[in-house]
Amino acid sequence: MLAVLIGQHGEYLLIFLVSPGQFQEGVMTVHDHWQMDASAPELYERYLVPAITSVWADDLLDRIDPAKGECVLDVACGTGVVARRLAERGHVGRLVGIDLNGAMLAVARAKSSDVEWTEGSALDLPFATRSFDVVLCQLGLQFFPDRPQALREMARVLKPSGRLGLSVYSAIEHTPAANAFVQALDGFLGPESSRTKRAEHLTCNADEVGNWVRQAGFDRVGVETVTKQIGFPSALDYVRFQLTATPMAALLTREDDAGRERTIAAIADDVAARLDPSILANGRLTFPQESFVVVASLR
Ligand SMILES: C[S@@+](CC[C@H](N)C(=O)[O-])C[C@H]1O[C@@H](n2cnc3c(N)ncnc32)[C@H](O)[C@@H]1O
Repeated sequence: MLAVLIGQHGEYLLIFLVSPGQFQEGVMTVHDHWQMDASAPELYERYLVPAITSVWADDLLDRIDPAKGECVLDVACGTGVVARRLAERGHVGRLVGIDLNGAMLAVARAKSSDVEWTEGSALDLPFATRSFDVVLCQLGLQFFPDRPQALREMARVLKPSGRLGLSVYSAIEHTPAANAFVQALDGFLGPESSRTKRAEHLTCNADEVGNWVRQAGFDRVGVETVTKQIGFPSALDYVRFQLTATPMAALLTREDDAGRERTIAAIADDVAARLDPSILANGRLTFPQESFVVVASLR
């Protein structure tokens, strides 16, 4: 089932639910491979958070290192990995997570009661001016329809001397698995099919991101280009995840289960053929993923 919601500010919000059992029989026979048997937010939390976003969360928290007693806001928190990780580090002080997607927040709520989870838009934060010491925004900025407005909102809710920590994927060409995937998609399903995946990545350079943050009112702004090694059990798991548990599943809704699995396998073979063999050592998919990481503060 695919649900499309349109937010107050024109944001597109896709919620994809995979019916239980749909991908279990005859597909996933190897135990350490991924089981696509839950809703998209649950699958996101089960697979993408450990594989990808917890890696970036630890990096961001190490850079910002919120102090005892500081009030922290996690914007576009998703299932809440950044705020939850901070709570697990023993943070003392108010922790708030906000996201537009109620289904992602439901997973966040089930995982932790240490954080105040709030549904709302990054473009119109429902918080008083000067109410937080730290704002974090991990892998969300690329999705906001009005990035300058979201950054101005982050500056508005920060107290004087407040800090911002933000990460966002850089150009897709700097993340080989994603780049191979969009090329394979375009080849199999047509040139428009990779649009959603490409939208996860910025096309500009680090200086431009720094300028957006400065123009939003931040004073000391540093942007670092950071690479992390990301691992998936196989190229097939990577492609299957993308095409069954994300909004890209809409690309294969016309196919029955067998046809969908054939297409996924063919795209996975094509992805593998486009990658340097070192990325597929021992059948695992291990690739560098590049992001811009911003650390900024107000005067
Ligand atoms: C790739 S996820 C990142 C989630 C989380 N920060 C993490 O690292 O796992 C992007 C999130 O941005 C949220 N999002 C997109 N547009 C938004 C908006 N305008 N306001 C708030 N959240 C938004 C989505 O609902 C989604 O949960």
